[in-house]
Formats: sequence, C-alpha cells, structure tokens
Amino acid sequence: MFDVKKIRKDFPMIQNHPELVYFDSGATSFKPNSVIEAINHFYCFSTANVHRGDYPIAFENSRAYDAVRGKVARFLNASEDEIVYTKGDTDGLNMLALMLKDEYIREGDVILTTESEHASSVLPWFEIAKEKHAEIRYIPLGSEGEVTMEAFASVMDETVKIVACTQVSNVLGHINPIKEMTALAHQYNALMIVDGAQSVPHIKVDVKDLDCDFLAFSAHKMLGPSGAGILYGKKELLDSLKPLYYGGDSNARFNKNCELVLKKGVQRFESGTPAIEQIIGLGAAVDYLSEIGMDNIHAYECELKDYLVQELLKLDNVIVYNPHTDTVIVSFSLKGIFSQDVASYLGSQNIAVRSGNHCAKMVKDIIGIDETLRASLYFYNTKEEIDKLVGVLKETTLEKCIDLFI
Ligand code: ALA
Repeated sequence: MFDVKKIRKDFPMIQNHPELVYFDSGATSFKPNSVIEAINHFYCFSTANVHRGDYPIAFENSRAYDAVRGKVARFLNASEDEIVYTKGDTDGLNMLALMLKDEYIREGDVILTTESEHASSVLPWFEIAKEKHAEIRYIPLGSEGEVTMEAFASVMDETVKIVACTQVSNVLGHINPIKEMTALAHQYNALMIVDGAQSVPHIKVDVKDLDCDFLAFSAHKMLGPSGAGILYGKKELLDSLKPLYYGGDSNARFNKNCELVLKKGVQRFESGTPAIEQIIGLGAAVDYLSEIGMDNIHAYECELKDYLVQELLKLDNVIVYNPHTDTVIVSFSLKGIFSQDVASYLGSQNIAVRSGNHCAKMVKDIIGIDETLRASLYFYNTKEEIDKLVGVLKETTLEKCIDLFI
C-alpha cells in the first residue's frame, strides 16, 4: 500500500527540513537513505576500482557495480547488453548523436524533433545538422505542447532519418505517444531516440513495448546521485556503433602498431574509471522505486497533479499553462510579476520551485511567454504542501516581491 507518511521518513532532506516544500524534483530529486547508505558503504567499506583489482574488495565492488546493469535492464524490460552506463542524460544523448551522425545523416536528411525539447535533446542535433547540411524539422505541437499522431504523421516522410523526442516535456509534462510514434518512424526507417529524463523517474517505461531504438536518462532525477545515467539502445544498433571514447576497460588488447581490439558488448562504450559509486547509488534507487512500484507512483502523482491544478485554477492571480498535464509538472505564472521574482519570494517562504525557461528555450513559442514558474513534484510530496504553495501564492503581490530586494 502506498503510504506517503512512511515514504517521507526515508528521505533525510525531508526530515532535516520539515518546513521546506520542495517542488523542484524535475531539476533533481531528493535521495532516500538506502541510496545514501549504498554510496556511503562504497566510501567507508568498499573503495576500489572496478574490473581492475585482483583482491576481494575489488571483486566485491565489481560485482555490485555490474549488478546494476541487470537491475536497470529489468526496470526497463531490456537486456543487460542494451544498457550503457553514462554520466547522465546529456552525456548519453550527445554521445549517441555523435556516434550516429556519420552513419545516419547525409545532406538533405531530416532530423525531426519538437519545440518542447530540453536543450540536451536538440542541441547535439543542431550542431550535426549544420555540419552535415541536414534539416531540423519540428512536429507541430498542441496548445499545451503535446504531440498528437496526426501532427506527427503530417511532417513524417522518407527524408526523416532521426526522430528525437522527449517522452515527457520538462516544462509542460505531457506524456508523448512514443509507442505509436516509434511504429510510424519505423515505417519510414527512421530511428526513434527518446529523452527519458522526466519519464523514467515517474512512469513505467518498457522499452520493448515502446520499441524505441534508444532512450537516455539520468540517475539524479530518480533518487540517485548526479554524475550517472543510462543510455539504452537496441543490441543490434549498439553493436553497429563505433564508440566515441577510448581508454582503459573498453579494450581487450592493443599494441604499438595501433592495432586495437575492443571488448564485446556495452563495455566498448565505457572507457576509463566509471562513476562507480554513482552507478551503485543508481542501483539502490532502482530497488527503491521498484519496491514501491512505478504504477503506484504514477497513480499517486496523478492525484497530486489533479489537486495542484484544481487549486491553482481557483486563484485569480495565477495563469496555468498546462492544466491537462499527464505528470506532476505544472507551469504557471503570476499576473504582472516576473516569474523569477515570484520564485525568490516563494523561496523566502520555504517553497522551492524553478523559474525561467527551464533549459527548454523554444517552449516560449508554444505557450507565448518567456519565463514561467514550474512546480515539479515527486511521490514524496503531499497535498498539505500543495496547500502551502497555494496559500502563499494567493497572498503574493508585486510589493512583497519587490520588498525582498530592498
Ligand atoms: N533538466 C532539469 C530541469 O528540467 C535541470 O530542471
């Protein structure tokens, strides 16, 4: 049974800051004790490199580190040889784009994406499009930034080689129809690349069911530490790619004649000492999320979202830009007050939200405003916290925001 009171006890940030309302989990999430303890165990009892030492601690550590691949594979319904450890979502998406560009992109080809993407999902492709004289094309979005299959089909043709799309927008929160999009993309032989940064922490993501070709995400938004992430890729596609980085651990042998034999499988992509303790922390985060169940998490978050939107819509001074969001990401502003000033005022009242363009600088063309406030919740938040936010917003005035700075 989902018990938020019990869950909150697992998070030291909640216990240590009882007054804080943290609605910025879209930026990074709090970490439960089990994740902190797993990382602490590495520092206090198990520090050694992986795949290099021939002593018991190194073996134990390598086993713990390698086991995370299986945990993540089960979490996504993938195989272990489809899970590449990265430094995070941005690292995975950049690495992938650079590995794909020479094989897949020729002059005149199209990279299809959306204006609701986070920078990390589109900027690598902008650079590649310039280099290869390819075209960046956008799927027309609905008024709240959602992708519909009709709109997607209207811009899809045989020149499209890559579809790069977020599963959940970090500003507008819609769950895009990735499964249906992938089926259509494959009819045109295009690759489907999914930014899962805001979806994997919140909803059940089954890569076999979606049939997407690649999916990237970060550990730090799903209870894990920063500095680690995952790039999922279909095995046959990963096997066809030439790694971007070279160094220790990824090679089987090399000699002075520049002959190099890489290891087989995903380790080919993982040169150098990896983010060992971060990956181990990610494994503990996956255990924690799996124990609660992603469907339970999503169901509770939908309740929170419905309540938050309902309460915000009651306020005359608030504009909500995505009242029909499918996740707990709600973007709004206060009439006549610069969003960053409101965020600072909320901060002074112990409420943490993000303001600005949220690294998704094209979203302004969809919702018609440059800067918004974003409340991004997680399953450790409560309706009481929403009441506190709404209560403070109700009383927020331009004068109170200005007073903060004088
Ligand atoms: N990508 C993170 C966010 O949406 C940092 O806030």
